[in-house]
Amino acid sequence: MKIISNPLELKEYLKTNTKTLGFVPTMGALHEGHISLIKQARLENELVVVSIFVNPTQFLQGEDLDKYPKKDEADKKICELSGVDILFFPHAKDIYSEDEVSLLAPKVRGFVLEGNSRPGHFNGVLTVVMKLLNIVEPTNAYFGKKDAQQLNLISLMVKQLFMSVNIVACETMRESDGLAMSSRNVYLSKEQRVQALKISSSLQIAFGMVSQGIVDVSEIVLQMREKLEPLEIFYVEILSRDFEVLENVEIGNSIVLVEARVGTTRLLDNIWL
Ligand code: PAJ
Repeated sequence: MKIISNPLELKEYLKTNTKTLGFVPTMGALHEGHISLIKQARLENELVVVSIFVNPTQFLQGEDLDKYPKKDEADKKICELSGVDILFFPHAKDIYSEDEVSLLAPKVRGFVLEGNSRPGHFNGVLTVVMKLLNIVEPTNAYFGKKDAQQLNLISLMVKQLFMSVNIVACETMRESDGLAMSSRNVYLSKEQRVQALKISSSLQIAFGMVSQGIVDVSEIVLQMREKLEPLEIFYVEILSRDFEVLENVEIGNSIVLVEARVGTTRLLDNIWL
C-alpha cells in the first residue's frame, strides 16, 4: 500500500492511470462501517484509494474537531489488510488556503435536519468532497447510507455540477444489538451505550408499523418519539428518498431519519423503507 500526503503528488501519481478507480473518503478512526465501503470498492474496481482527513471546515465552532478520535496507525493497518492500494493522508494546509473559492450547500436541502442543527456543516462537507474528488478523479466513490443527508447532497452536487463520478450508496453496518457503527460511539459511557439503543429501536418501531400496513407519517413519528424518551431529540422525520415531505410512507421511496443526543454525543441513524 502506498501512502501519499501531498495532493499534487497523488494527482501526478494517478495521471497515467487507466484502471477503474474506487474511492472511499473518510475521517479515520475506521470501523466496520468504513471497512464495508472499502470492501465494496475493492470488489468493484481495479484500484482502490482511501482518504483519511478530519476536515476542519465541516466542524462548527465549539464542536468536537480537536477531540475527534484519531487512530492513525490502526487505520493504516486496517487499510493495508483491506487491500487498499493508495492511502491519501493529507494535511489541512495542503487542502485549504487563506482566501478560498467557496461552495455552498443548497439553501433548503442543506439547512434542514442535520443542516439545521449544524448550520454550515454541509458547506464544509461538499467543499472537501469536491476537492477530494478532483484530486483522485475516481470512477466510483463510496458513501454510507448512514449519513443519508450527506449522501443525498453529494449526489445532488455531482448531478448539478455535471461531474462524471458515479456515487455508490452503501448499507449501514450495525453492532449485533442494532447500534449503527460510528466513530463517535467511543464517546459513549456504558450506560449511554444502552440509552443509545433507543435510536435503532425507534427505527424498528417504524419498520414494524409499516409492516403492519400503518403508513401515516405523523402516527409513526409519534410512536418513535415516545420510544426515544428521555433522549434529546433533534429530529424524527420520514421523508422521500429525495428528501421531500411525505404524509404517508411510500414503500421503496422513504427514509426514516433520527438524530438524538445521548449525553453530549449526537447520534444519527436511519432506515430506508
Ligand atoms: P466518516 O464519518 O469517517 O464516514 C466516512 C464514510 O463512512 C461515509 O460515507 C459514511 O456514511 C460511512 N459510514 C459511517 N458509518 C457507517 C456505517 N455504520 N455503515 C456504513 N457506512 C458508514 O462522512 C464522513 O466521514 C465525512 O463527512 C466525509 C464524507 C469523509 C467528508 O469529510
